[in-house]
Amino acid sequence: MLMDCISNEKAELTLDGKTYLLPIVVGTMGEKAIDIRSLRAETGYITIDSGYMNTGSCSSQITFLDGEKGILNYRGYAIDDLADNCSFVEVAYLLLHGSLPTREDLRKFSVLLNCYSLIHEDMVHFFDHFPPNAAPMTILSSMVNSLSTFYPEMNENPLEDIDNMSARLISKVRTIAAFSYRKSLGAPLVMPRHDYSYCANFLNMMFDSPVNPYVVDDDVVAALNKLLILHADHEQNCSTSTVRLVGSARVNLYASISAGINALWGPLHGGANQAVIEMLEKIHTSGDDFKKYIDKAKDRNDPFRLVGFGHRVYKSHDPRARIIKEACDQVLGALGISNDPLLAIAKELEAVALKDEYFIERNLYPNVDFYSGIIYRALGIPQNMFTVMFALGRLPGWISHWTEMWGDPNWRIGRPRQIYVGPKSREFVKIDDRK
Ligand code: CMC
Repeated sequence: MLMDCISNEKAELTLDGKTYLLPIVVGTMGEKAIDIRSLRAETGYITIDSGYMNTGSCSSQITFLDGEKGILNYRGYAIDDLADNCSFVEVAYLLLHGSLPTREDLRKFSVLLNCYSLIHEDMVHFFDHFPPNAAPMTILSSMVNSLSTFYPEMNENPLEDIDNMSARLISKVRTIAAFSYRKSLGAPLVMPRHDYSYCANFLNMMFDSPVNPYVVDDDVVAALNKLLILHADHEQNCSTSTVRLVGSARVNLYASISAGINALWGPLHGGANQAVIEMLEKIHTSGDDFKKYIDKAKDRNDPFRLVGFGHRVYKSHDPRARIIKEACDQVLGALGISNDPLLAIAKELEAVALKDEYFIERNLYPNVDFYSGIIYRALGIPQNMFTVMFALGRLPGWISHWTEMWGDPNWRIGRPRQIYVGPKSREFVKIDDRK
């Protein structure tokens, strides 16, 4: 049960000569918030916080992050420990259930994932009707949205069936992602297999062929597990907040997640992983000095930004970027890629940017997307599927937040306010009298 911990301290606010005492809420890791839930009713004022830079929309038990210290924990466990020791399915279970699975829990969860891995044959035909160059993120969000028509049962209390709904989504999204890639190639679909792990199954569905059988490589599977774990949750980011906001209107899980997929697609959010590789390739093929791109990023009159740099909450370093950068050398080494020019450019860009006043003053560091594309590329994942991979990883996080929101006793439909700055009341003019 989600409970706010109210401090004995109060914040004092003076407005129009009157003083109001506002409660202070304290999180388990000591972070503090001023509770303004009764502000408008008591004072007539609202707060303005575009981009929600300072606004907590909920209390949550799922993920803790400290952007100043570069800490990220899922359900209390450090991201480094999870990335080093767990499979993605274990971490998905942790996010969904709140505790790490025993071997038996994991077995049962894997059985569910296996049972739900096929998609309805009628859905398979949907793939035939997207244009050949359709962006895989559009296909993914449309297919996930349509799951609500195939599984319309939504109990008054969907939490009663949440284990099935979660497993169905996590398993089917993997199949949908792989099928959308196969269809884009015009290649035959490869069905999921009961004897493969989650990641091995995905890779096999992507790359197996009747004329060129795919051999599952343990290093590739391990790298994919790590990347998906690092993406699995990130508290109230844009797509997760979208899932919560859409779900707050009591919209079903599938439609809420479909909305989150669309939010993730944006180049300022998950779409950055594809944009980073495009930027690195452009620098590589142009033969330009990469410092030119640092200068462009610093130029206020140039819309160019160094993609993969900067983060709303991380102000010292993004721990996920550190882990992925370390994994890059390891994975590329294991795959026999001794000299990746894009990795070399990325490292040089990072080294120069980290010493540059512009980036230092603004606390701009590489984020999770800066190095992840280099690994996905080495694994053979096509560029236009990078953000789909992010979605695959983020899915357990989205589902956990939707579930938590649904059971939150403080739940309210999400409905921000505004300050109206349009015209004051105007006299209506009939159409023939208008000039
Ligand atoms: N390159 C150059 N300048 C930048 C960059 C960048 N990548 N990011 C921020 N800045 C500057 C920005 O111009 C502003 O400068 P000034 O104070 O002079 O106006 C200052 O830094 C603060 O930036 P902001 O846009 O106010 O910061 P924000 O918290 O609103 O935006 C961000 C965060 C991630 C959208 C932004 O840093 C960005 O656009 N980065 C590039 C896109 C990217 O890599 N996105 C992936 C984010 S991590 C994964 C995820 O969330 O999915």
